[in-house]
Amino acid sequence: MRLTIANKQYTLEKKVDTLLEALIDIKKYQDNSLTFKSGCRSGVCGSCAVVVNGTERLACITKVSNDDIVEPLRNLPVITSLVTTNNHIGNLLNKAQNNIGNINNDNITKADEEKIDKVSSCILCSSCYSSCPVYSVNSDFIGPFALTRAYRYIEDKKLEQPKTIIDNIQKNGVFSCTLCGNCNMVCPEQIDIKGAIMQLRNKSVQYGYSNPNLITDFGGGLDFGFNPNQF
Ligand code: SF4
Ligand code: SF4
Ligand code: FES
Repeated sequence: MRLTIANKQYTLEKKVDTLLEALIDIKKYQDNSLTFKSGCRSGVCGSCAVVVNGTERLACITKVSNDDIVEPLRNLPVITSLVTTNNHIGNLLNKAQNNIGNINNDNITKADEEKIDKVSSCILCSSCYSSCPVYSVNSDFIGPFALTRAYRYIEDKKLEQPKTIIDNIQKNGVFSCTLCGNCNMVCPEQIDIKGAIMQLRNKSVQYGYSNPNLITDFGGGLDFGFNPNQF
C-alpha cells in the first residue's frame, strides 16, 4: 500500500485496518521522524485528527486505503509532520465563554439536559476549525467549537446572565459565520454546529443585536434596478 504522509511517500507491506495503525507501523519500522498525536485509539479523545484526501478524519477510526494522502489539520500551526497546536482555539474558547456568570438554584428537567447534552459532547479535535473557510482567512473568528460552547452555556437554565456571553460573541462571532455547514460535515461527534450558530443569531437579535452584514438602508447609493422602498 502506498501512502503520502505530510508530503513524504511511504510503502507499507503489512496489512493494517486503520490509518493510525499505518502511522504507528511506519514510525516503528520506516521513519522514526514521522510524528503524530494519538491517545484513546477509539475515537474518544480527539487527538488524532488529520486531513485524509482533503477531509478531516480521526486517524484511529478511519480505514486506510492505497494512495491515501494524509496531511496535518488546516488553519492551525504545524509543529512537525502531522502535529498541530490548537492553543489559539483555546484563547477563542475563553473569549466566547468569558464571564459565565452566577449559577442559580433552578431545577433542570431531563428535556433541559438533553438540549445541551449533544453540544457538550465535543472532543476538542479541532476538525471544525480546520474545515472552516472563515477561520482560514480570519484567525480572530471565534469559530465553530467555541461558538457551540457559548450556545451550550446560553441554553443552560442554571446560568443567570447569558447576556454576557451574547455580548462576547458579536465581534468576529455569530454573524461572521457563512453558515456553509463544513463544520457539521467533519464533526466526528455529529454536533449540529451550524444549527447552534443559527440559534445564537436568534438569541442575539432577542438581545438587541442585528446582523451587521445586512443592508437595511435602501436609501443610499446601491442600484437594484428598481426601487425597493415601493414594495
Ligand atoms: S458553518 Fe460557519 S463555523 Fe461552520 S465551517 Fe461554515 S463558516 Fe465556519
Ligand atoms: S465541535 Fe466537533 S469537530 Fe469541532 S472540535 Fe468539537 S468534536 Fe471536533
Ligand atoms: S486516538 Fe483518540 S480519537 Fe483517535
